Amino acid sequence: MENETMQTRGDEPESVPSIVAPEPDFDWTSAPDVPHELFLRWRQDAINAGLTEAYAATLSTVDADGMPDARVLTVKDVSEECGFKIATGEDSVKGRQLLANPNCALTFYWSPLNRAVRVRGAAQRATAAESAADFLARHPQTRANTLAAPQSSSFSTDTARDELIRQARAAMELDPGIVSPQWTVWTVVPKSVEFWQGDPNRNHQRLSYIRTETAWDKQRLWP
Ligand SMILES: Cc1cc2nc3c(=O)[nH]c(=O)nc-3n(C[C@H](O)[C@H](O)[C@H](O)COP(=O)(O)O)c2cc1C
Repeated sequence: MENETMQTRGDEPESVPSIVAPEPDFDWTSAPDVPHELFLRWRQDAINAGLTEAYAATLSTVDADGMPDARVLTVKDVSEECGFKIATGEDSVKGRQLLANPNCALTFYWSPLNRAVRVRGAAQRATAAESAADFLARHPQTRANTLAAPQSSSFSTDTARDELIRQARAAMELDPGIVSPQWTVWTVVPKSVEFWQGDPNRNHQRLSYIRTETAWDKQRLWP
């Protein structure tokens, strides 16, 4: 009976190890001058470690009332200028929030490596041509979903949903190059990027990059 009781409180925090894996080496003295180089190294380490969601990040935004919002999404492309690219419908909740207020944050967490990266900046819309090319490279079901209805809009029945998808699929068959005008690539251009390397002995390493007029200012942060 006891086992059937759902645990709703963190009664035994010490019983769940929070950091278990041996931490990878992180020599902050040899960290590159630009944060995206270090980011790409760490992400490659995550991929090499077999993480299935190495590209996943939490995108935090704020709504019109200043209320924070957050959701997981995919970040694949990182530009030479340190721009983190995301793609979504502009008529989604996050799309509307970014249009009204482009300030946002991305948080990556690669748990087995005890590593996290936080990015704070503002999102810039890509050109219509870049967004269209990205849309056409997406999975057909993603395209159908986007063409059929705004992301995060509510629907009542499976039948109503299936009919909207059927219509979108028919439009795609008629015109394989059809593009949703809502689909938008955004580039999160950071003002700061922070790297966190966890340590089982709690001697965590933190390195912050702050963008200046001409370069990046690197600082170690107290854990
Ligand atoms: C691993 C993962 C990757 C995702 N990637 C994306 C993505 O690239 N774009 C997107 O719009 N939603 C993505 N989602 C779905 C979002 O988390 C979210 O449910 C959706 O975008 C609606 O968010 P919104 O209502 O805040 O606009 C992903 C979810 C997960 C768990």
